[in-house]
Amino acid sequence: MILVVGGAGYIGSHLVKELIKKEDIVVLDNLSTGHREAVDSRAVFVKGDLGNEEDLQMVFRSYPIKAVMHFAANSLVGESVVDPLKYYQNNVAATLTLLKMMMKFKVKNFIFSSTAATYGIPSVEVIDESTATQPINPYGHSKLMVEQILADFSKAYGLNYVVLRYFNAAGAHSSAVIGESHDPETHLIPIVLQQLLGEREKVSVFGSDYDTPDGTCIRDYIHVTDLATAHILALEALLLGKKSAEIYNLGNGLGFSVKEVIETCEKVTGVKANVEIADRRPGDPARLVATSEKIYTQLGWKADRNLEQIIADAWKWHQNKKY
Ligand code: UFG
Repeated sequence: MILVVGGAGYIGSHLVKELIKKEDIVVLDNLSTGHREAVDSRAVFVKGDLGNEEDLQMVFRSYPIKAVMHFAANSLVGESVVDPLKYYQNNVAATLTLLKMMMKFKVKNFIFSSTAATYGIPSVEVIDESTATQPINPYGHSKLMVEQILADFSKAYGLNYVVLRYFNAAGAHSSAVIGESHDPETHLIPIVLQQLLGEREKVSVFGSDYDTPDGTCIRDYIHVTDLATAHILALEALLLGKKSAEIYNLGNGLGFSVKEVIETCEKVTGVKANVEIADRRPGDPARLVATSEKIYTQLGWKADRNLEQIIADAWKWHQNKKY
């Protein structure tokens, strides 16, 4: 059985929907940001906290767990700057408790959700895994700290792990049953789609004076189902003993500016957005684009879905969303 911590959240719930076709799953989630309804009904659901040893003991005693996939984290850059305690507590300290209990119950396989925020403001156009990691906010630091902990646990205790550094996760499951549902929403694509549906008055473009061709920030958007596929390949490699202590970027390899994303949303939906130019948002690097060559070469993964597909799937979900 696979333990998916944070399996009721946005990316975790999409992983569960794909992985359940191959493995039995137990989801542990405290529902602080996740949704119980998003968890596939074929998975076992346990409401509990990864920072709580008793909750973890109960899970490890009750189910034959062979690997843990860890999606449960706070992930808002701006919030991490104003409330670093929350980020170090939930993302670092609680993860340490999870790892401690894994070692106690001799569960040695771990997949960790990391982030492009570990790179900070990169000095290269296209980021690979050897690009220097210099986070510029507590969120990025919290993820990089766990990466270090994993490297040390691997050497000392024989933990096998894969770190996946996501770029900008977006889109929704093709069934439109689950999608990106944050409250409050801060991410660009759902905000644009909410505006197009009349759920918000306008879209604010945070800065138009960046050193990019159209002055707005460039990001590498990756479909959440492509992320799920990468996790499954990483898990298989880990369970077969083929890979450990590896770090992979997960991106499309293509950068789109905020303006281009808004234009693509308009094109896909046929609805015109109400856009205003606003001040820069603190902590936004001008450009974050990945190469995912390493995971392609080693595990055969590449992103299958482009920006239009991402937006089309997100749009389908946004029009029918139930929660
Ligand atoms: N943006 C706007 N207006 C909005 C919302 C966003 O202009 O209303 C801009 C942002 O300034 C940024 C781009 O759209 O330039 C993308 O912003 P998102 O908030 O959608 O995503 P981020 O790139 O800020 O953050 C994402 C993940 C983080 C991760 C980060 C890596 O959400 O968890 O990528 O840099 F850390």
